[in-house]
Amino acid sequence: MRVLLTGSSGWLGRYLAPLLARNGHDVTGFDVVPGAHTEVIGTVADRPLIDRTMGAHGIEAIVHAGALHKPDIARYPRQAFVDVNVTGTLNLLEAAVAAGNDRFLFTSTTSLMVRADVRAGAGEAGAWWMDEDFAPVEPRNIYGITKLAAEQACRLFHREHGIDVAILRTGRFFPEDDDTHAVPSGENLKANELLNRRLTVEDAAAAHLAALEAASAIGCDTFILSAPPPFARADAEELARDARAVIARHYPDAAELYAAKGWVLPQIIDRVYDPSRAERRFGWRARTDFGSVLAALRDRTGLPFAHDPDYTSPIIAQERDACMC
Ligand SMILES: NC(=O)c1ccc[n+]([C@@H]2O[C@H](COP(=O)([O-])OP(=O)(O)OC[C@H]3O[C@@H](n4cnc5c(N)ncnc54)[C@H](O)[C@@H]3O)[C@@H](O)[C@H]2O)c1
Repeated sequence: MRVLLTGSSGWLGRYLAPLLARNGHDVTGFDVVPGAHTEVIGTVADRPLIDRTMGAHGIEAIVHAGALHKPDIARYPRQAFVDVNVTGTLNLLEAAVAAGNDRFLFTSTTSLMVRADVRAGAGEAGAWWMDEDFAPVEPRNIYGITKLAAEQACRLFHREHGIDVAILRTGRFFPEDDDTHAVPSGENLKANELLNRRLTVEDAAAAHLAALEAASAIGCDTFILSAPPPFARADAEELARDARAVIARHYPDAAELYAAKGWVLPQIIDRVYDPSRAERRFGWRARTDFGSVLAALRDRTGLPFAHDPDYTSPIIAQERDACMC
């Protein structure tokens, strides 16, 4: 299939573009900054450029992963988020329908589900259980607002034009450090997050490939992408009180392996993302989970996830380089 991939210079794009190609797809990378997998340099806000690209490359499907996202909030005005994330998505949907495409993939974010009360900590019943039916959705920042608006545009186009749409609400997969969480940090934090709210970039890319290929069976649906948590809903109350006890039941040697590494397990877990719908509906399940981390600690092999404190989004890196000239 001839696929237009937006965000092809980014962290996800650099894994997803080669994965699509290895699986027989002819990928045209589209990004506002250059990259090894980017053929067309420009913004998704530029509708004529999108139309020209669709025609010149005979595009049959769009995977829309390009965006301004959370780290960009500090650097861009809100209007830029509307231009890129809302107008850009609308442009791509219009172009997809005009070109007669039968499928469209939108990379969304679990972040849009984080309301003020979710961010404040566990709820009355314990840890928040976050699946696709979680409601009401009230994003707490311009990133979430514009991603939610883009999701709604995808759904509208499915209703009005019949184009199949998979909305992939992706959990954390960034390689850099968390800008809001200092202790624990680095690899320890990422390992902990694989329990409830993270996946590897390789698994995120694999989910996009699987959803693209299953689009006609999906129709129109929203999916949470995250590593499979070892917990059940029945654990929610205890997770918010004593997560280490729950973890010990699932992984009896976790505390010992962590201690040997000088790491700490979370004392409480206040939310769990449930990715089971993606497995039920299109057969995707993340290959790397918390158990994979423990296996690596046990076997003294490399950690199964990327950690790069120096990673910066290409769009930010380009601006930084321009300032230094
Ligand atoms: N990184 C995460 O943990 C995470 C979590 C949830 C969802 N997401 C989503 O995954 C997608 C990919 O994110 P990433 O982590 O690879 O981020 P990234 O910043 O590394 O990549 C995003 C890419 O989008 C490009 N882009 C920005 N504005 C553009 C425009 N106007 N036109 C075309 N391209 C533009 C950037 O240049 C960049 O290459 C995004 O949609 C993001 O919202 C990321």
